[in-house]
Amino acid sequence: MSQKNQTLGEFIIENQTSFKYSSGELSRLINSIRLAAKVVNYEVNKAGLVDILGTAGQINTQGESQQKLDVYAHEKFITMLTNRNIVCGIASEEEEDFMVINSADQKHQNKYVVLIDPLDGSSNIDVNVSVGTIFSIYRRVTPVGAAVTIDDFLQKGTRQVAAGYIIYGTSTMLVYPTGHGVNGFTLNPAIGTFYLSHPNMKFPKKGSIYSVNEGNYIHFPQGIKDYIKHCQKEEDERPYTSRYIGSLVSDFHRNMIKGGIYLYPQSSTYPKGKLRLLYECNPMAFIAEQANGKASDGFHRILDIKPHSLHQRIPFICGSASMVADVENFMKVAAN
Ligand code: AHG
Ligand code: MN
Ligand code: MN
Repeated sequence: MSQKNQTLGEFIIENQTSFKYSSGELSRLINSIRLAAKVVNYEVNKAGLVDILGTAGQINTQGESQQKLDVYAHEKFITMLTNRNIVCGIASEEEEDFMVINSADQKHQNKYVVLIDPLDGSSNIDVNVSVGTIFSIYRRVTPVGAAVTIDDFLQKGTRQVAAGYIIYGTSTMLVYPTGHGVNGFTLNPAIGTFYLSHPNMKFPKKGSIYSVNEGNYIHFPQGIKDYIKHCQKEEDERPYTSRYIGSLVSDFHRNMIKGGIYLYPQSSTYPKGKLRLLYECNPMAFIAEQANGKASDGFHRILDIKPHSLHQRIPFICGSASMVADVENFMKVAAN
């Protein structure tokens, strides 16, 4: 039974059996993510002090310039998960291909693969605004004993066994669902311990915040344009408030607490949508649904989409259930 002031370490041990496939392996995996989060948090916090700000001078696999902290966070999470030998494969937003993880004595015996967006909202680093990390965990579909293949990574979101995010904000939090709702743990930086601060987080059914990059408005599909006008209309409890940080984790976190919707539809720069199905949309959709929220591409449930490639992008609409349902209605009407 979760209780306030419980540490994340205690919580992991106590809730080991609430995962779909209960095993110490998954608990150890969450534990290493907790450790990597602390290391990255330390670096994010001192980012203004040292020469780690700015771009690393490389373009990542999706053609975006990599910020130094992106690279740092990627390396920290990969090293932590690799050294401890608890996963059989990792895919990261920052790497073109997935990684096969194995050691000589280990012979591909691990069961889980991890997909990760090591640093989300990286354009916000230089201006001291919240960033995050997103992770998604699946059980492999290929038999243990052999190297993982692409099939282990291209699974529908419904097959996730765990997912979560870390938000490096005014305080640092790790948020992830177990069988008993979505729980938020806040880091006490003085002693380096996460405490359960937000048990059983839920999206309010209906919210009054909409989060979208309105600079792209003229390129949005008609249904999204109609929904934005609906948000701005003076009627019932509208107009809604517009809030957009530009870091999915932070926008999602605020909307889950206060009630709201996040939208990243198709735009001229990103005709298929910007966000990545495997590293961003599926894990956030998994968390949203367990917190009574909803996630859609405008027409379909995100978690039901069969991925076709590692870095696939899709339109993403996620938040309070009735607001996402409203968007789907506007999209349907506009399409007819
Ligand atoms: P990342 O930093 O991992 O590339 O992700 C950035 C994503 C998402 O977090 C954010 O909501 C969105 O891109 C912002 O995009 P715009 O700057 O185009 O609004
Ligand atoms: Mn991201
Ligand atoms: Mn990123």
